Amino acid sequence: MYDKKGTVTREGIRIHEPADFAGMLKAGQVAAQILDDIAPHVFPGQTTGEIDRLIEEMVNTHGAKSATIGYRGYQHASCISVNHVVCHGIPGDKLLKNGDILNIDVTVIVDGWFGDTSRMYVAGELGRKAERLIQVTHDALMLGIEAVKPGNTFGDIGYAIQSYVEAQRMSVVRDFCGHGLGRVFHAPPNVLHYGRPGREAVLEEGMFFTIEPMVNLGRPETKVLADEWTAVTRDKSLSAQFEHSVGVTSDGCEIFTLSPGGKFHPTWG
Ligand code: MF3
Ligand code: CO
Ligand code: CO
Repeated sequence: MYDKKGTVTREGIRIHEPADFAGMLKAGQVAAQILDDIAPHVFPGQTTGEIDRLIEEMVNTHGAKSATIGYRGYQHASCISVNHVVCHGIPGDKLLKNGDILNIDVTVIVDGWFGDTSRMYVAGELGRKAERLIQVTHDALMLGIEAVKPGNTFGDIGYAIQSYVEAQRMSVVRDFCGHGLGRVFHAPPNVLHYGRPGREAVLEEGMFFTIEPMVNLGRPETKVLADEWTAVTRDKSLSAQFEHSVGVTSDGCEIFTLSPGGKFHPTWG
């Protein structure tokens, strides 16, 4: 099975060794534990800057390193994307208000391995439309993950996500994608959250990558604000995202970033 270990495929995708899964699990679990522990700090009147400060403290407490501080000039330990912000929201002094939904995305480095994961949270009470959006987005991620096994393709993953989301009359963002990772933050392939069965590269045991679908209540188009990071929906509709880091095993995949406390739902925090 591992005849190609330590090599890179035609598409530039690294095939990792069995022992590397342990490193990824350790990093993934640190990131996921931080997402568990930040939940009680999300409430109306809180600032996203304070949430980020707490996350940076938690990263340090774990003896980990933030992968985002210093990454292409980014200066924070998390991205916090509120309401119509699709991704890469910059933490700051804006106050959260009742009913705001937010994605918190944390990437840590532990012993050289990258753990990258994000979840949705709510400040105060969760509205009905927001709850449905969040549920569909999480279900879409898990359907994508169910398509991860050797012999399937990246197009199968994108198709599983897109067909489900569109059947719910929501849209999949095209402008951002998941990515290979491992001892690096962003590596081939681009993991698209839309696609067709059988297209794109074939999955092989030992590939590590993220799946991180962004789903909008309205249209899929986005734009990046003048700060050169914050991506928003063009039609100002609500957007949600979940992200897991996974590794392809002999018969499926291992999710490195599952919540240690089973707390992934915003109202279970
Ligand atoms: N964690 C994000 C991802 O899922 C990347 C954030 S890069 C940053 O790939 F610089 F904006 F933090
Ligand atoms: Co990612
Ligand atoms: Co991320």
